[in-house]
Amino acid sequence: MVTCYDFWSAQILSASEIDCILVGDSAAMVMHGHDSTVPMDIKTMVAHVSSVKRGAPEKFIVADMPFLTHRKGTKYAMDCVEQLMRAGANAVKIEAQPGHERIIKHVVDSGVPVMAHIGLTPQFVHQLGGYKVQGRDTSSALRLMALAKILEEAGCFSIVLECIPEALAKKITAQLQIPTIGIGSGNNTDGQVLVLQDLLGCQKTFQPKFVRHYTNLYDIILGAVNSYHKSVAQHEFPSEKEVYQ
Ligand code: KIV
Repeated sequence: MVTCYDFWSAQILSASEIDCILVGDSAAMVMHGHDSTVPMDIKTMVAHVSSVKRGAPEKFIVADMPFLTHRKGTKYAMDCVEQLMRAGANAVKIEAQPGHERIIKHVVDSGVPVMAHIGLTPQFVHQLGGYKVQGRDTSSALRLMALAKILEEAGCFSIVLECIPEALAKKITAQLQIPTIGIGSGNNTDGQVLVLQDLLGCQKTFQPKFVRHYTNLYDIILGAVNSYHKSVAQHEFPSEKEVYQ
């Protein structure tokens, strides 16, 4: 799974072998420049989902429920789920804590597949005290194992495990029937997810340990734009071939 937020890159993913697209609320940071996912709202998420759907209509699209949308009562949560599904999502992803299983079960019972997200849940950054690895001590590891089981029982079809120790991700994966998707959680989960812009090397400043750059798009784009600028400055672009007569 990779993230995607726009029509342009969705068209490329549509031609790829990727199984699943996540329209993540990480768009708040990657596309809108915020320092967390907290500012993301439902209207903006819906716009991202419908752009991605137009670019990759045949891919399985999971859309993030933004900050607090599943915590404001069943009606509000279901209105948000409805908007994301009508925009083209095939499933929603919910950052889950103990107690959230009731609303998750309601969404599932309403016919909407739910992917849960546990471990480092970025919408909880203020409570977690920063972007830190979760489940390192025995009691928090046991809490995450119990939570994963509860979420499976609530009907989730998959669970994202973000930034937990590899051994814990392995144990959680082994105890579940549903697939786990890891990010920063080692190689023993059933699948992996990365932010597209991270795997493409789109920026220089954000390089956590778990991200691999499969290319260096930052330098490639910078080089191309500077080549364009130079050829315009030198009146070399447009050439004879690029002009209407
Ligand atoms: O919003 C997002 O991109 C995510 C992934 C990093 C799992 O939740």
